[in-house]
Amino acid sequence: MSEPSPQAPPQSVLSRRSGWMRRLHAFHKHSPFNPYWLDARHLLRSVERLAPHARGVMLDVGVGERPYGHLFTPHVQRYFGLEYPPVVFGNLNPDLWNYIHVVHGIIDVFGDGQELAVRSGSCDTVLSLEVLEHLPEPERCVAEMARVLKPGGRLLMTVPFVQPLHQLPFDFRRYTPRGLGDLLERHGLVVELLEPRGNVASATGAVLSQYFLRHWAGKERRHDGSVTMSRWRGVLTLPFIALTQVFFAVAERFAKDDALALGYTVVARKA
Ligand SMILES: C[S@@+](CC[C@H](N)C(=O)[O-])C[C@H]1O[C@@H](n2cnc3c(N)ncnc32)[C@H](O)[C@@H]1O
Repeated sequence: MSEPSPQAPPQSVLSRRSGWMRRLHAFHKHSPFNPYWLDARHLLRSVERLAPHARGVMLDVGVGERPYGHLFTPHVQRYFGLEYPPVVFGNLNPDLWNYIHVVHGIIDVFGDGQELAVRSGSCDTVLSLEVLEHLPEPERCVAEMARVLKPGGRLLMTVPFVQPLHQLPFDFRRYTPRGLGDLLERHGLVVELLEPRGNVASATGAVLSQYFLRHWAGKERRHDGSVTMSRWRGVLTLPFIALTQVFFAVAERFAKDDALALGYTVVARKA
């Protein structure tokens, strides 16, 4: 009897693409034709800035597809990626166990960031990139991340500020620098760095490209908040998206005001 062939998990954060699709996707992702390009390049810079602070045993809470793993592995001894099954497998897919091979080498532990099954004081570094906004009880998650850190260990974190709703229904909030700083300090973490990602120009460019994507090119809004693009309107709109983003990528060099930013980058030490 032949084995049932596993089907792709619905709306998973883990994707399986064929060779040429992967190359096309990689080109698109790193070009201004990607409506998220302005944010993606700032996020990469933030992560590059965070990586040298990592050391020892590192727990990545909400590892996703481990997109920045290569930046951290040179700095740490062990890198554990934790993921939350209801998001990865699209709302507790009953065929969960058919997909375990997909996450091999990416996810080491399944669990909830708000209730870590990790020994207190066992991590030198906790990483959390664009995760906190997805938690119904972020206060519990920060308390847990502080608990598992050794004294002197560091929490490295990014959160979005100007960003469309995403991974619905798991998108709960956005943070201001004051709100985020206070939240961390309430749990015994000393904020060493808290800086904006981009400025008013980058945020404006990101919003405008979302307008082109959603209003001009968008066909249908998916249940997770993303949109499917109409093929022809998409082809006509992508040049506007690219031009807008290139314009604002230049403009951000001259803009000073960061009261509107794409997000925030944080390094906090456990006292
Ligand atoms: C926007 S993605 C970011 C993924 C990855 N950190 C990155 O930078 O690409 C948010 C991640 O948070 C995870 N997440 C959501 N709720 C979670 C929870 N309760 N505990 C741990 N991770 C969670 C999601 O599965 C998702 O991978």
